[in-house]
Amino acid sequence: MTEHTHVNASDLSLEEEASLTSGSDSWHVQGLEEQGLEGYMITDGPYGLRKAKDSASNDVYGSVPATCFPPTAGLASSWNPELTREVGQAMGEECVQEKVAVILGPGVNIKRSPLGGRNFEYWSEDPVLTGHQAAELVNGVQSEGIGTSVKHFAANNQETERLRASSDMDERTLREIYLPAFEYIVKHAKPWTLMCAYNRLNGVFGSENRRLMTDILRDEWGFDGIVMSDWGAVHNRAAALNAGLNLEMPPSASDGEVVEAVKAGELSKEQLDKMAQGMIDLIEKAKPAMSREGYRYDVEAHNQVARQAACESVVLLKNEDSILPLRKGEKVAVIGEFARTPRYQGGGSSHITPTVVTNALDAFEHSGVEVDFAPGFTLDDAAQDEELTQEALHVAKQADKVVLFLGLPEDAESEGFDRTSLDMPAKQVELLAKVSEVNPNTVVVLSNGSVVSLTDWLPQAKAVLEAWLLGQAGGQAIVDLLLGEANPSGKLAQTIPMHLSDDPTVMNFPGEEGHVRYGEGVFVGYRYYDTFDKPVLFPFGFGLSYANFEVTDVSVEKSGKNQVSVQATVTNVSNVDGAQTVQVYVAPGQARVNRPSHELKAFKKVFLKAGESKSVSMSLDERDFAYWSQTMNDWHAEAGTYGIEVATSSRDIVKRVDVEIEGDGKSFRLNEESSMGEWEEDPIGAPILRKKVEELEAEGVHLPDDPNTMILFRTMPMGTVVTFSGADGRKVTRDLLAAYQAVTAE
Ligand code: BGC
Repeated sequence: MTEHTHVNASDLSLEEEASLTSGSDSWHVQGLEEQGLEGYMITDGPYGLRKAKDSASNDVYGSVPATCFPPTAGLASSWNPELTREVGQAMGEECVQEKVAVILGPGVNIKRSPLGGRNFEYWSEDPVLTGHQAAELVNGVQSEGIGTSVKHFAANNQETERLRASSDMDERTLREIYLPAFEYIVKHAKPWTLMCAYNRLNGVFGSENRRLMTDILRDEWGFDGIVMSDWGAVHNRAAALNAGLNLEMPPSASDGEVVEAVKAGELSKEQLDKMAQGMIDLIEKAKPAMSREGYRYDVEAHNQVARQAACESVVLLKNEDSILPLRKGEKVAVIGEFARTPRYQGGGSSHITPTVVTNALDAFEHSGVEVDFAPGFTLDDAAQDEELTQEALHVAKQADKVVLFLGLPEDAESEGFDRTSLDMPAKQVELLAKVSEVNPNTVVVLSNGSVVSLTDWLPQAKAVLEAWLLGQAGGQAIVDLLLGEANPSGKLAQTIPMHLSDDPTVMNFPGEEGHVRYGEGVFVGYRYYDTFDKPVLFPFGFGLSYANFEVTDVSVEKSGKNQVSVQATVTNVSNVDGAQTVQVYVAPGQARVNRPSHELKAFKKVFLKAGESKSVSMSLDERDFAYWSQTMNDWHAEAGTYGIEVATSSRDIVKRVDVEIEGDGKSFRLNEESSMGEWEEDPIGAPILRKKVEELEAEGVHLPDDPNTMILFRTMPMGTVVTFSGADGRKVTRDLLAAYQAVTAE
């Protein structure tokens, strides 16, 4: 935050300070007129601006027009942080025009289960992809002098019991899976604000979690912005302020409670000063952008950013016989209500009133391509109308190729509830079966915010474009891709499983009696499927192109202690321009803990003209080799051999090169219970133990000679080994530890 603020919180009255720590209404922070602090607007959302027309209103659907960029599930699949930054910058410009100081996004929670109700608003099952993409959204918005609110901190991975469920997990899972995206963004993009989660983490509400908001976020990661509550997440103002929450939203008419808490000594004046000062700094930081008068963003230019982002968000899953792109002169039938009534965004607080929406049918017309259209089905739950089926079959029969738009209707997924199945509406799947029978050249375009099951019907589609939700320009983007004017370049940010029952969370989602046990630990998504060799329909990181690429000349070099640089050449060996995303996974060798077989650590999207080659280079550092050690309560990079995999999906490894990593040199502290084996392995403990054993032997105390007995003894606490060998184990342990402490204290 700005160091030189004009107003010092500690100079204000208690009442004024308290007032700063909650909003003035649902969408404004509290200003202090006499101090020159304005109560700026803060509002949703993650993929475009949702500014309520009536600023006191809670109606999510009554907002001023704004560009609806691809919802996050789409944008995440672009694997293109630079593009994401452009989207962020455009969002920031819209905030400047609309005088919104902080936009409430991005949402960076991990897609733990494919059923999660807000998966369309979140990025990925992988924290590295999430962090790298979302950091650039933050950078883009903030380059305009507008703040972001990275949400929901932390472990907000389901909607069931969303205001009170407790996400229960061990520290390692939290550190390796659920916190790293927040950590990366805080360290690399310095977001102005974070939003706490509704849920509890191991029993403690997000709004009252001092460990998260103060110990980890501020003290460990160096965050210097403010933390606001999710809307309605505060249960106790004083507890929240004590824990490090600066702002309660919306206000709950409880400022008096804060004043009383200070008077009663339940909340220190210093802590209130800190929290209120954060709010003052935020307001002052937003002032330059909020003082720009008459700024208008370029609506059409933003629509083009949305179109480009949508193009890169689509994942081509299958393209048998190169049926796509459509060729000039082919007779095309377009079937499916989604072609006329697109599903382009999700429901709930992220919902945007778009500036313009292009559907696929209009886009075909703009492109001068005539198509025959049949709606095929309705988007409601009504049983299939036989007339619609017959009409669809009629147009399908007469066409060279059919493009069938399928997907999840709006009421199938939204903020507020989790799904219970991955199935597509049965009537759509039945229609596909019939259409593909009369015309096998059938291409499916899917619109869905979260993964759907394709297993049962995939053979009936010659090609599948997974179009997620693409925002307002999605119809145009899909047609650009179908016609080959753009080339699909998206990659899956989430595994598509064969069956829901394969998912590692099935036994523990969405929990019971207010608790959800993260029993799969760090084995989320591909970390589970790849480690345990489970079949998947489409792996994480997968996506086809109309072009073909080769990745060659992979080289992996040590570039420093525990640092590695990875190089490769990517060549477009086709005659169309396209893009390939090179992914680097680290595969730990032998480890003290149970680690996933490999984890994404770096990626780069490379755009290549037909025939062009480019070299890419990525670097890895110590943290990329580390796991979170619960014993050390710290990251630990073990010495050893690690595989560096250069890949085009988590299952398409082009080349693996092994490197030796020295490790961070940290060792586990030996204690009374440390085994003989641990003493022998410890660089400080080993010589101390050797000396002691010599002394014992001189006294006639011998450890067994038999190797099998020694295997058993090495697993026992050192004291027990000594006792079994006929000496005073407790005394020897005390001596050993004293010697060990003397060295480690030096
Ligand atoms: C959502 C947040 C959102 C807030 C304000 C809450 O219900 O969880 O993501 O930013 O409302 O609309």
